[in-house]
Amino acid sequence: MWTLGDTEFEYFRNIVYRESGIRLTELKKALVQARLTKRLRQLKINSFTEYCDYVKHNYYNEIENLINCITTNKTDFFREARHFEFIKQYLIPQWCEKKKRRIRIWSAGCSTGEEPYSIAIILREHFQPIDVSDVKILATDIDTEVIEKGKRGIYSADAVADVPRELATKYFLKGKGTNEGLFKIKDIVKNMVYFRKLNLLDEKYPMKGKFDLIFCRNVIIYFDRETQRMVFDKFYEYIENDGFLFVGHSETLTGLTSKFALVTNSIYRKVV
Ligand SMILES: C[S@@+](CC[C@H](N)C(=O)[O-])C[C@H]1O[C@@H](n2cnc3c(N)ncnc32)[C@H](O)[C@@H]1O
Repeated sequence: MWTLGDTEFEYFRNIVYRESGIRLTELKKALVQARLTKRLRQLKINSFTEYCDYVKHNYYNEIENLINCITTNKTDFFREARHFEFIKQYLIPQWCEKKKRRIRIWSAGCSTGEEPYSIAIILREHFQPIDVSDVKILATDIDTEVIEKGKRGIYSADAVADVPRELATKYFLKGKGTNEGLFKIKDIVKNMVYFRKLNLLDEKYPMKGKFDLIFCRNVIIYFDRETQRMVFDKFYEYIENDGFLFVGHSETLTGLTSKFALVTNSIYRKVV
């Protein structure tokens, strides 16, 4: 077991903050040590001092791996169910009434894909009688490993246990033989979701159009207030005037920005 010294921790935490906005307090030192140890093993490097030198000399190649090690990717299908209820009970009826067929949703900080696929399933199930051919869900994350996992759309039985049984049967293929115990999301759902790498800290986002709904849940808790405000100001530009923003249940925009009005806990609408 290698020990992460204070100087090296300081070095890594400055890089992580600068590159991703993720704030690593002193309390996260043991976590950083554990996560980076995996990378040291892969590289067959014998100390954190040596890894610091490695990062300095291979910065642009290594930064992606370093960030991938540090991010916390916890997620679940249909996590924080109230958001999906809100889509079902309020947004879909509103979109149907307006005869809206073109729906754009952004899952920002999508991790391994459970969130965007849950959104796609809800729309498939309830966006009736309108077809979903012009419903698109953009799923982005800074972590390239989770993006690849999301694109594959293959999950363990444990992960799929959060999906109501009738929806799991309808929207997942059960693996057989060597794939026993695995579940693959069906193409009718997969084809609604587009995975891309995107760092929320980037000065400009590459998307051209606006979104009817942005999910940014359990992402900003890792940012300081200044970074949170900067991200929400950007989201404002990317949301339709009648659009909504969902944050995690323990997150709030109170005192940060007046560009969004609280509808109900963790659900905001754009102020125009
Ligand atoms: C805890 S997961 C949340 C996943 C999902 N939104 C949910 O609530 O279940 C947080 C995700 O935010 C991503 N993330 C952290 N900093 C980011 C940044 N600067 N830009 C984009 N994604 C970021 C992480 O890689 C991670 O996958």
